[in-house]
Amino acid sequence: MTREKSLKTLIVQYTPRNERSNTKKILDAFVGEIKNSDIEKLDLTKDVPDLFLEHNLDAYIHRDYLGEAISAEQKNSLAKMDRMTAQLKSADIVIVVYPMNNFSMPAVVKAWFDSVMLKGKTWDTKNGNYVGLMNGRKALTLVSSGADYENGPMVSWEHALSLANLEFQFMGYSDIRGILAGGMGSEPTRLSNLEKSIKQAKSIAQEWYSKK
Ligand SMILES: Cc1cc2nc3c(=O)[nH]c(=O)nc-3n(C[C@H](O)[C@H](O)[C@H](O)COP(=O)(O)O)c2cc1C
Repeated sequence: MTREKSLKTLIVQYTPRNERSNTKKILDAFVGEIKNSDIEKLDLTKDVPDLFLEHNLDAYIHRDYLGEAISAEQKNSLAKMDRMTAQLKSADIVIVVYPMNNFSMPAVVKAWFDSVMLKGKTWDTKNGNYVGLMNGRKALTLVSSGADYENGPMVSWEHALSLANLEFQFMGYSDIRGILAGGMGSEPTRLSNLEKSIKQAKSIAQEWYSKK
């Protein structure tokens, strides 16, 4: 008798305003629709990714670009990045959740992407081309912002969701979705856009977790 492997969902979350967070409200609606999946959380306000600095960048280049043996101390300098990368690779579905900060993703979320986008782990090169190694997996990014980036003069200022979509595309994810709830800075736009985003999030969850 074969037992079906259960889905694993990883939630990577940076919502430091906790219960007051607009973005968390969209996440909660999504999570409410999850069925038949293990859920693991990475709270980026508590488990802060490393940044590439002199020592660990050198270790990374020697290990993953040049394919050289590195010392135990160098390995240790990459341990947190390796742990976060293994965690991402263990998940069938990843949900990344954060507010827009200065037209992009908060620095801690970018540090997480930098930590998991390791050559040979989530992407590689083959015959001079880039190849993503995360095929078959799904990614959803949930973002909220004070201003509206859907219409008007600020459309090209939006780098919070578009960057995440690009990172997932580069890693080879097969199904990439994103929701940007704009206009959180003004009422009643906040409420109507939040409601619209919550509906979208629920419908993606229903699609992804429906048992066929
Ligand atoms: C440090 C900081 C930077 C922000 N930068 C932007 C920005 O560039 N563009 C924008 O539209 N809103 C910006 N905002 C507003 C937030 O993105 C918006 O209020 C969001 O809904 C907050 O999410 P939360 O309710 O989940 O905390 C910024 C807020 C903070 C605290």
